[in-house]
Amino acid sequence: MDVLVTGGTGRLGTRLVPRLRQDGVVVRQMSRRGTGPGGVRGDLATGFDLRAALAGVDVVVHAASAPLGDPWQVDVAGTRRLVEAISREGLRHLVYVSIVGVDRIPFGYYRAKFAAEQVLLASGLPVTLLRVTQFHDVVDELLDTARRGPVLPVPMGWRLQPVDVDEVAAHIAGLCAGPPSGGVVEFGGPEALTAAELARAWAAVRAPNARVVATPVPGRMSSVLRDGAALPGGGPRGRRTYAGHLRG
Ligand SMILES: NC(=O)c1ccc[n+]([C@@H]2O[C@H](COP(=O)([O-])OP(=O)(O)OC[C@H]3O[C@@H](n4cnc5c(N)ncnc54)[C@H](OP(=O)(O)O)[C@@H]3O)[C@@H](O)[C@H]2O)c1
Repeated sequence: MDVLVTGGTGRLGTRLVPRLRQDGVVVRQMSRRGTGPGGVRGDLATGFDLRAALAGVDVVVHAASAPLGDPWQVDVAGTRRLVEAISREGLRHLVYVSIVGVDRIPFGYYRAKFAAEQVLLASGLPVTLLRVTQFHDVVDELLDTARRGPVLPVPMGWRLQPVDVDEVAAHIAGLCAGPPSGGVVEFGGPEALTAAELARAWAAVRAPNARVVATPVPGRMSSVLRDGAALPGGGPRGRRTYAGHLRG
């Protein structure tokens, strides 16, 4: 099996690439600079080098994204460029890494991810749209950024079900070997927690002097997050809890 991973240099990609290689898979790790062993260049924002990067692959894991850049250019138009550059004859499976709740959480980046899903569904390619919950490391980073000295403010009542990124990588490696689902499947962590519960667990280990303050946040996005829009419905679950991640 010859697999190309877009976003091969990202948080998920750098865990997925070695995981696939462990399974004996030939991996092309795509990024804009094409660094690293098995690295290939490809820029979703311009289309440069995409066709060469993709030539002859059996499976594509599409995990590139630009949440802090221009997701409409990279995630949406970039996914369209990817679809156009893929040689359809050989492709057995394209796994797109999306986010649980992109269809119901009114947040600009999520709207772009949902639009990218629609591009893939309309493409006629053999796709699986894998919606994943927030990675544990990202929760750590968000809490670290939110802390203001001794105070750690978090949105009141938001519910999340974060997941271990290595378990996501292992799950994707399993999907690559199987048939496309043709639609949306989900994968999340083992337990749903409020933002305050996550913050208290994080503070206990990483910032023992910080006091967690749950603050009401108005607006529709906040209301759907309180209602559980970021929680996975059915589907398999990772086993590592957020507390286990913090201990590790
Ligand atoms: N982080 C989370 O908690 C989370 C949760 C659920 C789902 N997801 C999804 O999982 C995927 C991976 O997330 P991540 O956190 O691993 O992302 P990340 O660390 O931000 O990595 C982004 C990747 O996209 C690549 N990229 C950016 N712009 C590009 C462009 N113009 N052309 C080609 N590649 C480009 C980057 O490569 P270079 O900069 O090296 O070119 C990098 O490899 C994303 O689709 C994200 O939406 C993430």
